[in-house]
Amino acid sequence: MKRIISGSLLILILVLILGLLVNNGYASPDVEIIRGAQLYDDWAKLISPALTLTGNHPIWDRQDTATMSGVDTWRCVSCHGWDYKGNEGAFRSGPNYTGFPGIYAAREMDPSELEGTLAGVNDELHNFSPYLGESDLQAMVVFIQNGLIDDNEYIDPVSLKVLGGDLANGQALYSSTCAQCHGEDGRQIQFRYEGQDINLGKLAGQDPWRFLHRTRFGTARAPEMVVGASLGWTAQEGRDVLLYAQTLPTGLELENTPSIGEQTPGSGEQPGGPASNVFTGILTALGAIATGLGFAIILGALLIGIILLIVWFLRGRK
Ligand code: HEC
Ligand code: HEC
Repeated sequence: MKRIISGSLLILILVLILGLLVNNGYASPDVEIIRGAQLYDDWAKLISPALTLTGNHPIWDRQDTATMSGVDTWRCVSCHGWDYKGNEGAFRSGPNYTGFPGIYAAREMDPSELEGTLAGVNDELHNFSPYLGESDLQAMVVFIQNGLIDDNEYIDPVSLKVLGGDLANGQALYSSTCAQCHGEDGRQIQFRYEGQDINLGKLAGQDPWRFLHRTRFGTARAPEMVVGASLGWTAQEGRDVLLYAQTLPTGLELENTPSIGEQTPGSGEQPGGPASNVFTGILTALGAIATGLGFAIILGALLIGIILLIVWFLRGRK
């Protein structure tokens, strides 16, 4: 009996270790980068929609060139830019110019030093630790160290068009992953951009860096959106999709749209929409299996442990 119990215990421990390995090996790095990137975009929106920040971020008032005010001034991106280059990138002029530096070079910093920066070690007003928990601060550090991509040499500074790139590949990726929600022409979903309702084609032309950041990492506004980082896209694949999106119509009006009265349910559906889901579906399922497997093994191990305990207890009473 003793041998059975110790043998089973050994198996139990091995299975537990295996479960932990499977979980860590597959799920965490991308998940952390994505979390960090979405926090960088709009941490207040992500951690608590009800959280209210009053007034401007105190550092914001060190400049008076950008006229934005209120909760948006607390977002990392408002000061450091969608291209992570601050006053040396897309925000070097125009309405978003603040003079604040970028964070691109900070990816070389030591993780603890980087976390210190976010906790106000160098500048006490640059302290986000009262709002962000340890794991979120860490996700932000992981994002800054592993997620920042410099696209500037691939984007024409004047026309904002993608330089180089594979249009056919961009179209294929778009049709298989994005069209199901955004529509083949990018007009199915509208969102706010500088006080206007716009679509994907318009954003791709106006603000390629915001397009890339959110295509790669998503946004707190669309938790259901499939993102490049979880599909394992390369930096170039992100730009290929941007290149294709820059060819989509920029206006909101749909040609030949039936008037409201004539609209039938499902008429907004795009040709090939549901079918193009299959590829994404498989990828998502594989990801889910990888994570699910880890949990299943841990759960299974726990169950075996409990059964063993019961058997042992019943035997002991005889
Ligand atoms: C209101 C503007 C503002 C906001 C919001 C802001 N920063 Fe900063 N950040 C600065 C300024 C200015 C500096 C440079 C010196 C300083 O004050 O620390 C800086 C410095 C940094 C640095 C160090 C850069 C280097 O190369 O030394 C990092 C990293 C950084 N910020 C990341 C973030 C992150 C992540 C967030 C969001 C949680 C954020 N910042 C929010 C203004 C801002
Ligand atoms: C499951 C549906 C879904 C899929 C699939 C999807 N998106 Fe989205 N996407 C959304 C929603 C919803 C929003 C949020 C709109 C808003 O802000 O209200 C959004 C927002 C965006 C934004 C941000 C717009 C902004 O406000 O800056 C970009 C860029 C974007 N999507 C690109 C893509 C690309 C590229 C793909 C394909 C890789 C894709 N999306 C796939 C649903 C989806």
